[in-house]
Amino acid sequence: MSVTLKGRSLLTWLDYSVEEIRFLLDLARKVKAENAAGTVHQRFSGKTLALIFEKRSTRTRCAFETAFGEEGGHPVFLSTADIQLGAKESIEDTARVLGRMFSAIQYRGFKQETVEALAKYSGVPVYNGLTDQFHPTQALADMMTLEENIVSVGDTGSANGRTLCYVGDGRNNVASSLMIICAKLGVHCTVITPPELNPDAALLEKCAPLARASGSNITVSADIAAVAGADAIYTDVWTSMGEEDKKAERVRLLSPYQVNQALMNKTGRTDSIFLHCLPAVKGEEVTADVIDGPQSRAWDQAENRKHTIKAIMLATLGGFHGNN
Ligand code: CP
Ligand code: NVA
Repeated sequence: MSVTLKGRSLLTWLDYSVEEIRFLLDLARKVKAENAAGTVHQRFSGKTLALIFEKRSTRTRCAFETAFGEEGGHPVFLSTADIQLGAKESIEDTARVLGRMFSAIQYRGFKQETVEALAKYSGVPVYNGLTDQFHPTQALADMMTLEENIVSVGDTGSANGRTLCYVGDGRNNVASSLMIICAKLGVHCTVITPPELNPDAALLEKCAPLARASGSNITVSADIAAVAGADAIYTDVWTSMGEEDKKAERVRLLSPYQVNQALMNKTGRTDSIFLHCLPAVKGEEVTADVIDGPQSRAWDQAENRKHTIKAIMLATLGGFHGNN
């Protein structure tokens, strides 16, 4: 099947087919190999990228900025402390203006509706670099990292049929994007979280037919024993950006869900890997011995943000296409 993503935005993986996601993962692998070989390209020469940030970022900003700049593109960082975005100018008008000046726009902020409006009114590809609801570029790097660590007998290099357990705040942006991408790619995903933080019921309903089509199970459990047999244990901060007032409540609810070595051992496997989107609060959602230990792939995962983000931009800006 032919895959062409030129001109597309990435707002949520709900909008992408399995073939399209698979294409991006394969392209990310090629981009990483080029990087390792020291191959230099200028595939964004003459292009410009607006990077809008309402919330802080280390990895996402640096991944977009370095991936775009090293290929000859010109990234422009726009903090919302400096630009008009919904304050003195409507989001629609800002989008229209940016669309006249930039080849593409990245947005990190609060509302999913804002990134949707930017895509609707700018006329250029828009990338969701995290909203309260979703974190799609993160989930692609997570799948790439999972696939890099699958080496068992008879494997095809795909994560299909593997099990990822997300342990922590089950209703946050990272958990939501993981559920969608796992449902699409055939990865079993168990969200292990207290009932108060269960994933959004409407999102679970959207994932159910996707999981049926790919042969995966997307399940929710309050019991940490559900990590048994998992290929990967994933966690994220207990208090996401913008929810700082909920910190005490989250510590109370999520302390039994801390990923420590005792929880890792409950997989019953020594080859289970640990994943974390970062930044991490060591001593809260994960202990230092786990994230800094031999089962952790969090640092590969951070590096893979750059390769996957470059693949997304190459496919949507450069007109890269392929046959699956
Ligand atoms: N994982 C992630 O999005 O990191 P940043 O918040 O540093 O961008
Ligand atoms: N859930 C976290 C992810 C940070 C990358 C947050 O939104 O703050």
